[in-house]
Amino acid sequence: MPGTAPFSPGAPVDGAAAAAGPRAGRGLRIEQVSKWFDRPDDDPLQALQPIDLNIDAGAFVALIGPSGCGKSTLLNIVAGFEPATRGSVLVDAQRVRGPHISRGMVFQQYALFPWLDVRENIGFGLRNSGAPTSERERRVDHYLRLIGLEGFGAARPAALSGGMKQRVALARAFATDPDIILMDEPFGALDALTRGFLQQELLRIWREHRKTVLLVTHSVQEALFLATRVIVFTRRPGRVKLDLGIELEQPRRISEPGFRELEARILEALHEELLPAAQAGAAGIGTD
Ligand SMILES: Nc1ncnc2c1ncn2[C@@H]1O[C@H](COP(=O)(O)OP(=O)(O)OP(=O)(O)O)[C@@H](O)[C@H]1O
Ligand SMILES: [Mg+2]
Repeated sequence: MPGTAPFSPGAPVDGAAAAAGPRAGRGLRIEQVSKWFDRPDDDPLQALQPIDLNIDAGAFVALIGPSGCGKSTLLNIVAGFEPATRGSVLVDAQRVRGPHISRGMVFQQYALFPWLDVRENIGFGLRNSGAPTSERERRVDHYLRLIGLEGFGAARPAALSGGMKQRVALARAFATDPDIILMDEPFGALDALTRGFLQQELLRIWREHRKTVLLVTHSVQEALFLATRVIVFTRRPGRVKLDLGIELEQPRRISEPGFRELEARILEALHEELLPAAQAGAAGIGTD
């Protein structure tokens, strides 16, 4: 880490021997995962067709697709919040059976606890980790600094701007040193300036910690600025339509060779899926 961080952010939270640095991300296998939702007065709704994805440790994968195609559903299944109807999710050959602090989630709407202050929100996942209080406090301090909110530790979420809340949500997701970070449109509600800043922050943290990241986004450019792999879904019931490795150097610029071509390929795939939905007045997909 840059600066003089007093602890290794990757040190085990159970108080075991100190690790040399942050734990690198772990690989993820999504095997034949499909999902139907039961509905009280209707036939079950199929949100996902069988999905097969092999995601390398340390990959930064962007998921993009039409509204309602099952992106959040897939993220929730990987997080363990929602069971798959069929198929399984494996993290290093271990089957996901429920939520675990090794998989951190950043929700679209921040999902901070309004009754807790910023410090308590960041430290929430560490409460049951078995780490001594001093270690938990050091870790919270570290992430407060990392997100530039040192002066706001005692503030409640209601006293923060949207961008500040989302920074706290990012810090909370990283504070438990998860192997896999799941992000559901984390920057969608932010202004362009804050979004750009937080994207850079996320890239920096990802580069330093080498976590495995799954990011749902509606923005093709966001996907191309950040990801090492972009996966485009069909409309519901979603399945993988396009799976592109992105080998552009960081930092990426729209003007660099290859960016626009990749953007055009992704947009073309999306537009094929959006046409009927667009006619029905569904939400579109932007390029910014
Ligand atoms: N708990 C639920 N019960 C019933 N249907 C659900 C449930 N959760 C999601 N669905 C349905 O599953 C489909 C996929 O929803 P999901 O939230 O995964 O879409 P999404 O791709 O994340 O869309 P968006 O881009 O708008 O966030 C939708 O048709 C939605 O209505
Ligand atoms: Mg969603």
